[in-house]
Amino acid sequence: MKNIYKVAVIGGGTMGADLAALIARQDMPVVIKEVNAELAERLRGRLDQRIDGWLERGKINASRAEQLKMLCTATASNDDLCDADLVIEAVPEDVNLKRKIFAELAVLLPDAILTSNTSSIPITSLSKGVARPERLAGMHFFNPPTRMPLVELISAEATSPETLESLEVFAAETLAKKPIRVKDRPGFLVNVLLGAYLTPAIRALETTTVKPEAIDAEAKAFGWPMGPFVLLDMMGVDLVKEVMNILFSAYGDRFAPSCLVNALVSAGRLGQKTGAGFYDRVPGPAEARPGDHSESGSEPLDAILEKNFPERTSGDAVQAFTDMMYSMVNESAMALETATASANDIETGCLFGLGFPQAKGGPLHYGDQVGLGRLAEALGDSACPLLRGMAVRAETFFSSW
Ligand SMILES: NC(=O)c1ccc[n+]([C@@H]2O[C@H](COP(=O)([O-])OP(=O)(O)OC[C@H]3O[C@@H](n4cnc5c(N)ncnc54)[C@H](O)[C@@H]3O)[C@@H](O)[C@H]2O)c1
Repeated sequence: MKNIYKVAVIGGGTMGADLAALIARQDMPVVIKEVNAELAERLRGRLDQRIDGWLERGKINASRAEQLKMLCTATASNDDLCDADLVIEAVPEDVNLKRKIFAELAVLLPDAILTSNTSSIPITSLSKGVARPERLAGMHFFNPPTRMPLVELISAEATSPETLESLEVFAAETLAKKPIRVKDRPGFLVNVLLGAYLTPAIRALETTTVKPEAIDAEAKAFGWPMGPFVLLDMMGVDLVKEVMNILFSAYGDRFAPSCLVNALVSAGRLGQKTGAGFYDRVPGPAEARPGDHSESGSEPLDAILEKNFPERTSGDAVQAFTDMMYSMVNESAMALETATASANDIETGCLFGLGFPQAKGGPLHYGDQVGLGRLAEALGDSACPLLRGMAVRAETFFSSW
């Protein structure tokens, strides 16, 4: 196993800058590389400003602020990366850019562990041209890494057990995160399960007259921290469209692109960032500001639905929410079937990556509670073979809980 004493982060944007803050807070030196000296300087300013903010709010004292600033180096030079034991790449989602960076890093740092924080690019596709590809893996943090506890560790075709073990120890012990091991596939684990949960919610609006607020209320009553439509508006409807396209290309019809999502994007209703999305009024990121909700100026959701989906039948929020949960259990069973992750890691991923209600244990425990026979019957032809077989044999995912 490789001990990690210093980390290099490539790219100091949304994820890279927050990763640097996370790593420094755990008392580990971190060097963040930007494209050029000007961007590196700007990043240095942003990091200092953030640390000064903690000081002003009384979260840390002056000597800790000084220490944290010293633990972070912003640079545009490869020379400053040379003693890093671990690299986390966090540049924009461009496969060619990432490949080029990994080919360079492999030469520059012959002994370091190399990881990508990509949310959608298969890690194996980044290993071309990397000497000793057994040290390359995915390390998928969620936004913002300082607050989100989950890390997906993705093993590419050549990733060695030693690399994974080193990353697991680093994530769990140094960063105090919850690492799970996930097979290399589009969307990895958590985003695919989230897609399986959210897609039926969107379909319910397209096919029935059920209201977003009614489905959201069901989800909240179940124990989710927020309803699916509040979440979709927070994520950004344009990002949702992009993710659905990725999942559709990889997994087919169950993630077929949504006409409603396309209509919302065309109307400029992108969610929180434009003030309207699935909801006609979406409060800004700084929490609800009464009387200060911006609006996109587009027609109301009801009118968009009426125009695009005139054949909708009457809807039922309980049924819609049940469909979402069953779809998530089915997708979790598919993840087991394809050895994408273990049952425990599926549960951990949903509890700590998606905010699945802790008391319910995760989608597989929920499936056991509902009963796999009932689930298989409700899912019909969509039920995956593993779920159907287990239902016939009256089995459960967990022996007891
Ligand atoms: N933003 C999210 O919510 C989120 C969540 C999980 C994973 N990710 C993944 O993290 C990665 C980064 O996303 P982001 O949102 O932080 O992007 P971003 O656009 O905010 O930041 C990317 C940074 O990389 C820098 N950069 C570009 N080319 C570079 C190069 N050759 N060398 C060094 N720096 C370079 C840019 O100047 C920029 O500061 C992506 O792969 C994304 O899929 C993002």
